[in-house]
Amino acid sequence: MEFVGELAVVQQRLAASRDLVARRLAVLEALAVAPGEQVLEAGCGSGLLLREIGAAVGEQGLAIGIDMSPDQPTAARSHCKDMTQVQVRVEDMRAVAAADDLFDATVYVQVLEYVPDVETAVAEAARVTKPGGRFVNVATNWGSLWWAGGEAELTARMVSAWHGHHRIRTCRWCYRCCWSTLASPPCTSAR
Ligand SMILES: C[S@@+](CC[C@H](N)C(=O)[O-])C[C@H]1O[C@@H](n2cnc3c(N)ncnc32)[C@H](O)[C@@H]1O
Repeated sequence: MEFVGELAVVQQRLAASRDLVARRLAVLEALAVAPGEQVLEAGCGSGLLLREIGAAVGEQGLAIGIDMSPDQPTAARSHCKDMTQVQVRVEDMRAVAAADDLFDATVYVQVLEYVPDVETAVAEAARVTKPGGRFVNVATNWGSLWWAGGEAELTARMVSAWHGHHRIRTCRWCYRCCWSTLASPPCTSAR
């Protein structure tokens, strides 16, 4: 799935919804960003979380947002245009243009579901995050979603179409190789 054109706009509207505001607050709390830190957000979408991260690191820090879609970084740049500490790049999270152990924290929100080779993406986060740094990942196990629709055939078609919109089942994620150098062990609840 590519978040371009109309779909980019839909994603931007969703990101502004009340539920996703609440999710961003939870992510920020988990990320525990301090002034002066350097933070990477991969799959930054329209930049709403990135702006919060930029505010938390302050002018002495750095918040880098990357997104593979050509449209989303434009929206993110516009949303953070008054913040010199925020940079936005069109970039694939599986090949981050950053030195090893650069970031104090790395965050993915609702993005790994759309990456075909999750292990590569998670390994990149481990590579660019400092030993002892923080990694926050939010993802949905879309495979567990179901509608209680009134019409069985229509419901089955909707569910089938929905399940095709993401590439992987989160319960199969594998973190086995990447996180031994970081302070916190990965969450295993999604396995
Ligand atoms: C569902 S949106 C979530 C955006 C944002 N994190 C949020 O929570 O509102 C997924 C985003 O991940 C981006 N994305 C997907 N695969 C990517 C990849 N390999 N590298 C970087 N970004 C990617 C998409 O372009 C899209 O903007």
